[in-house]
Amino acid sequence: MMTSQRKFKPLGELISLTGKRAIVTGGAMGIGFAIGYRFAEAGAVVTIVDDNTEKGEKAAQELTGYGYKVLFVPCDVGKEEDVQRAVRSAVEKTGGVEILVNNAGIFPCIPFTETTAADFERVMTVNLKGLFLFSREAGKRMIEQKSGGCIINIASIDAIHPSQKGFSVYDASKGGVLTLTKSLALELARHDIRVNAIAPGGILTEGALAQRTLDRSGEARSGLRTFMSHVPLGRMGVADDIARVALFLASELSGYMTGSLVVADGGYLIA
Ligand SMILES: NC(=O)c1ccc[n+]([C@@H]2O[C@H](COP(=O)([O-])OP(=O)(O)OC[C@H]3O[C@@H](n4cnc5c(N)ncnc54)[C@H](O)[C@@H]3O)[C@@H](O)[C@H]2O)c1
Repeated sequence: MMTSQRKFKPLGELISLTGKRAIVTGGAMGIGFAIGYRFAEAGAVVTIVDDNTEKGEKAAQELTGYGYKVLFVPCDVGKEEDVQRAVRSAVEKTGGVEILVNNAGIFPCIPFTETTAADFERVMTVNLKGLFLFSREAGKRMIEQKSGGCIINIASIDAIHPSQKGFSVYDASKGGVLTLTKSLALELARHDIRVNAIAPGGILTEGALAQRTLDRSGEARSGLRTFMSHVPLGRMGVADDIARVALFLASELSGYMTGSLVVADGGYLIA
């Protein structure tokens, strides 16, 4: 009696990704790996895409070992032919694509006046062109499938406000990610494809930690301590803090959200 009167879909169904096929770029480690884990746990078949073949294969093996349906496709997100081949391969192997997470990104810390044109092109190619190429290729498939879809772009708090010196080109690329998210959301809404972005704050990942040693400016090394002291929640984020938000955005829980940016930064931007 009570059951038939319920107006709300059960929470378990809302958060489930069972029957969905997801592609996660840069899924070999860090935030992308955590997203692949959570999506697979929620029932999705996940294709990890990465240009690091060794780590990508290991990541897929680890997740398969947990009993999840995960495969790996090597791909440099900045290369058009690679992206077309990767999306084709993921769709052939899994039968389709309903969810795309554009996560692959690089964040070299370089003083602005020392930034070369090659540095600029490299950052823009991976962070922005890669996202454009994957969204276009996966978006076409989603439209053909006629069953809607969901694109999640990993931006950064730097898309809203620079957080440290030495990241001018990175910040510009993430500003582009935010704008492209809104434009795509507007254009793809009629196909029931939702497009949203996440702005992580400081997240302790392999890439972020390596940054401190590769740093050409010294800013990133001293910056991390200073950064943490400005996080109201008192800790740096972990990859799963972002993966949980991505799961929310991929699931029906966020069914009425598109063109939005979800900030997950421990309060950094308000401090
Ligand atoms: N870690 C942070 O503090 C933080 C903060 C804000 C935003 N982000 C964003 O989150 C995303 C993930 O960051 P992370 O910290 O997990 O980084 P990470 O370096 O730990 O992992 C990035 C992954 O992307 C892959 N990748 C890099 N270039 C690629 C390419 N050309 N083609 C395919 N794969 C490629 C790497 O091999 C790696 O597996 C990035 O877009 C980053 O800008 C991170």
